[in-house]
Parts: sequence; C-alpha cells; structure tokens
Amino acid sequence: MVSISILGSGNVATHLISAFSKADSIHINQIYSRDMKAIQHFKNIANLTDDINSLEPVDLIIIAISDDAIPEFSKKITSKSLVVHTSGSVEMTSLLGNYPKGVFYPLQTFSKSTEVDFSTIPICLEADNDNSLKLLTKVASLISNKIYFINSNQRKKIHLAAVFVNNFTNHLYDIGNSICTENDIPFEILYPLIQETTNKIKNISPKQAQTGPARRNDQKTIENHLKQLSPQRQEIYSTLTKSIIKTYTE
Ligand SMILES: NC(=O)c1ccc[n+]([C@@H]2O[C@H](COP(=O)([O-])OP(=O)(O)OC[C@H]3O[C@@H](n4cnc5c(N)ncnc54)[C@H](OP(=O)(O)O)[C@@H]3O)[C@@H](O)[C@H]2O)c1
Repeated sequence: MVSISILGSGNVATHLISAFSKADSIHINQIYSRDMKAIQHFKNIANLTDDINSLEPVDLIIIAISDDAIPEFSKKITSKSLVVHTSGSVEMTSLLGNYPKGVFYPLQTFSKSTEVDFSTIPICLEADNDNSLKLLTKVASLISNKIYFINSNQRKKIHLAAVFVNNFTNHLYDIGNSICTENDIPFEILYPLIQETTNKIKNISPKQAQTGPARRNDQKTIENHLKQLSPQRQEIYSTLTKSIIKTYTE
C-alpha cells in the first residue's frame, strides 16, 4: 500500500483524488486546502486539513496548486516524505524544502466538471534520486498505462508544444464557433473535420497532413477570407497563413 497526501483542491487535485481513490493499493491519507470548504466533499475519502504544519508522514506528498505559488508554498512543508508538484512549466528545483523532490506531471487538460480516463493520460516523471523515481513509477503505473521519464528542461518544451496543440487550437475552435454562430450555422457541422484532423496526424506527420488555401498558396481565396474578418481575426489569419506558406516554400 502506498500512502499519499494531496495538497490543493483545484482541477488536478480533484482528478488525482478521484483516480487514486479507485486504485486498490493507494491510500489517500490527507487532503490539504487553505479553504476547508473547498475539500469538504472529500471527507469520506481522507482526513482533511487546512494546516500545512499538520501533515503526517506518508510515502508521497503531491502539491497540486497554482504554478506561481509552488516555491513559497513548498518551503512551508517540513515533512521528510517525497514531495512532488504536478506542473508542466515549473522546475523540480523550485521545490524549496528539505525533502526528496520530484515531479508528477499528468499531460492532459483537466477541468473539474469533465470526466477523464486516467489510464490513457501520459504521466511525466522526474525525481532527484532513484528510490523516489521508483516510487513515482509505481504510483503512476497504478493509474496510467503511459509513463514517461522527462527532465525539467524537456518538460518545459512539452508544455510549450502543448500550448500550441491545445490552448491555441482551442482558441481557433472558439473563433470557428463564433463564425458559425454569427451565421446561424451549428458548430457541430465541423466536428467530423476536427476529428479527422486529429486522427490524421497519428498516421502521417502534421507537415504532410496540411491542406487549405495557405498550403496551396491560393491568394484569391486568402484575400477573400481576409475581407470577411475583423482586424483582430485578420491578424491571426495572416500570421498563420504566412507561417504555413513559409513552411512549404523553404
Ligand atoms: N488544469 C490542467 O489542465 C493542468 C494539467 C496539468 C498540470 N496542471 C498543473 O497542476 C497544478 C494545479 O493546476 P489546477 O488546474 O488544478 O489549478 P486550479 O484548479 O486553479 O487550482 C489551484 C489550487 O491551488 C491553490 N492555491 C493557489 N495558491 C495557493 C497558495 N498560495 N497556497 C495554497 N494553495 C494555493 C488553490 O486554492 P484556493 O482555491 O484556496 O485558491 C487551488 O486549490 C498547476 O501546477 C498546473 O500547472 C494543470
């Protein structure tokens, strides 16, 4: 049995608590939040606390709080247990206490209200010693089938790539959705196209998969599209169009 305490009550903490509570060989010992109200609904799963000085000895403490708060918060932990954070962009060395350190970064977008299947989520692991890495591997493999050993520098680059493939793509979905709504078109008409775009890059590279007016350098269509857009959307369209044209003419 591996004993774990989770610090935080947000999106990631919520999903980790849900996944760990389903795993037979994991015991969630304590859940911490500075706001007890935010964790009341976990009262049947673990002991709850809002006192960082009351953490009990466990195998693993997971800090799942906002990136910027991690360094200062991590200083307050006086435990000698292995302490990890769950961030894609924060270095392991930003954990500032006197304990073994690591990272347990689940590479997925989490919202409290949306169910996830943890078994398919890549978990990126890092630790400052072999025993800690062994323990993290054991814990990760109890909830996921996809484990990667990734150092802080690589993790930063994954996070950067993820902003392009997830955050920016989602913003483009939002623009597509607005264009549909403004013209009385159901956004769902684009679902099969979105799905196929995602499926295709599993078999051929994104570079090979590119289609569209910019890929063909079809200037008349590009000008026509630009005329239909607000200045802000024109800027986005032009930047992406130039980038695609440059990619295929170099
Ligand atoms: N969401 C994702 O898709 C995702 C994916 C992978 C990794 N991550 C990483 O996971 C971590 C948590 O992200 P999240 O999305 O779960 O964040 P979140 O939903 O915004 O929750 C943030 C949590 O941090 C707590 N917190 C903030 N500042 C604090 C402080 N100074 N002291 C104590 N607690 C503090 C908040 O408590 P209050 O409610 O009291 O403010 C809240 O429980 C981040 O490092 C993030 O980069 C997120």
